[in-house]
Amino acid sequence: MHRIAVVPGSFDPVTLGHLDVIERAARMFDELHVLVVHNPAKSALLPVAQRVSLIEKAIAEAHLEGKIRVTSWSVGLLVDYCTEVGASVLVKGVRSQVDVTYETPMAIVNRNLAGVETVFLLPDPANAYVSSSLVRQVAALGGDVSPYVPAVVAHFLQSPRTA
Ligand code: PNS
Repeated sequence: MHRIAVVPGSFDPVTLGHLDVIERAARMFDELHVLVVHNPAKSALLPVAQRVSLIEKAIAEAHLEGKIRVTSWSVGLLVDYCTEVGASVLVKGVRSQVDVTYETPMAIVNRNLAGVETVFLLPDPANAYVSSSLVRQVAALGGDVSPYVPAVVAHFLQSPRTA
């Protein structure tokens, strides 16, 4: 049986914590889709296409290509994407009890909607405090984000950009 899993998220931007979860999930499934989901509840730093591109480059930088596909989803339910590609599992990294509390209702609703199960993975404790929002804040104030993100992301965020 060919097991397909989806790692969804805002990835605004992708962090070393995300990459750790992606790497662990890639070892557990035959095919892994990293899915950038537009979350209207959050105001974004980077356009979705830019986030996809940075994840692709970070995956290549970490030599994780192969069974990982990076794509985006902006219309409809997350489980609709899972059904479309034949994925039966969602993978989420949980850093703390706060993450478990936030993720649990979504996991149950996704199972009720389409029978898609959610697997919670514990990240490397070294990344337990890393979040995209922290990275966005440090970058906006001119700080060094390189300890928290793949090199390609640090380079991108610290390069002068227009708009
Ligand atoms: O990285 P984030 O912002 O914590 O990711 C949250 C995300 C995008 C995974 C979450 O908002 C989500 O699952 N959105 C999909 C919308 C959906 O299907 N909702 C109904 C079932 S919960």
